[in-house]
Amino acid sequence: MKKILFTASECTPFVKTGGLADVIGSLPQALIEAKLAEVRVILPLYDEIPAQWKEKMEKVATFDVKVGWRDQQATLYTLKHEGIVFYFLANTLYFTRKGIYGYYDDGERFVFFSQAIIDAFPYLDYTPDVLHAHDWQTGLAVAFAKVAPPTPNLRTVFTIHNIKYQGMMPHQAFDDLFQLPLEHFAGFEWNGMINCMKAGLFHADKITTVSPSYAEEIKDPYYSEGLHTILHQRANDLSGVINGINTNDYHPSKDPHIAVNYSHSRVKKKDNKEVLQKEFGLPVNRDVPMYVAISRLVEQKGFHLLERILDEFLQEDVQAIVLGTGEHEFEQSFSHLAHRHSDKMVTLLKFDEGLARQLYASADFFIMPSMFEPCGLSQLIALQYKTVPIVRETGGLKDTVKPFNEITGEGNGFSFSNYNAHDLLSVMKYSLNVYHNSDAWPRLLKNVNKSQFGWKESAKAYADIYDSFVDAGNNEE
Ligand code: GLC
Repeated sequence: MKKILFTASECTPFVKTGGLADVIGSLPQALIEAKLAEVRVILPLYDEIPAQWKEKMEKVATFDVKVGWRDQQATLYTLKHEGIVFYFLANTLYFTRKGIYGYYDDGERFVFFSQAIIDAFPYLDYTPDVLHAHDWQTGLAVAFAKVAPPTPNLRTVFTIHNIKYQGMMPHQAFDDLFQLPLEHFAGFEWNGMINCMKAGLFHADKITTVSPSYAEEIKDPYYSEGLHTILHQRANDLSGVINGINTNDYHPSKDPHIAVNYSHSRVKKKDNKEVLQKEFGLPVNRDVPMYVAISRLVEQKGFHLLERILDEFLQEDVQAIVLGTGEHEFEQSFSHLAHRHSDKMVTLLKFDEGLARQLYASADFFIMPSMFEPCGLSQLIALQYKTVPIVRETGGLKDTVKPFNEITGEGNGFSFSNYNAHDLLSVMKYSLNVYHNSDAWPRLLKNVNKSQFGWKESAKAYADIYDSFVDAGNNEE
């Protein structure tokens, strides 16, 4: 079995701002349980990580890490959680702060982290065959491992979860923060800046992203955020592997956050709807179709489309709930809409995991019209809670939601292709027709009930990538 060291900037249950944390918190377990790989995970030790975890950590070593001319200290801790060995790298200057991102020196913080990972190798009590790094914060770890390998046969995989965030710094950072000869500059530079994601893409042995469609899309300037040229150069080593969700945790039959547990029962789903309607003062009506959006309220998630059409859609006999926080513009417009249609719509400007799950359990439809979506986990959670997704055909949404076709009876949701508000409106109106069509609706639900998004197949796809290194004769155990 290959030994894999995962690294990322967030991971459930320790620290989370987005879907990346869910993936890092569930894929290693899937690989281990299926006996496909021996995975350990290395993370920054942020102040944010709750004391309940810190108390259980054991100190392994303290060592020096060079960040350009600076000598910084890293302390390596370890913790075993649900059978997985986690490592944490601590440094007071870089990680003892509120929150995890958004500082002027984020670049330098992750230069330190990436270098510290490499320097930690002698202190890990195993020798990884593969370093598997995720997103820009750890792109430099892949680059440093290539330029000065900590062990002779180490291979690297770099996974893009969102190409929009690249970790850019002025080009002077090369001299100021790295310890590398100038000949390596080109591997780190992009459009006159140091770019951590580009460095990962340039140096990794294999590149993956979180859905096959996104793997294609990011070769196109419309989606590439400027990185299409390097992705074309690396196209032979680039593939898309769809994310799974932890179906043990997200399971309506045992989720402690929801009012009435169920497996397939629409009756019990309506019990949940009723609880929700009472809680938020909506007219109690088990049969009115309920549409929900649960998300950060940001442009990426397609809220410009939704805000434009809700007023018209709410003329129909429907209910809608929006849950999330984000950009001021959206918080305002969705609050305003809820105010105008107080008998049909509620906007909840907060993030609350328990409430989110009660919404997934209660709703009939889940709306996710993203502008772009590398994978998307919420549509998978919706399907898992037997809620019909309405999505834009992009990235992982396109790969996991197939549009319902009344003639063939295929499809597990609704979708539209152009980023256009009226296309969203017409597909939402169509979903309403299907809901009221006693022949079509049960057929759609049957397909929803059959949709499965565990990690099984994707874990195998990652293991195949790790094993391809062995097959190339580069790293026999
Ligand atoms: C990012 C992407 C999202 C993906 C997640 C996990 O948050 O925006 O689409 O599901 O990473 O890979």
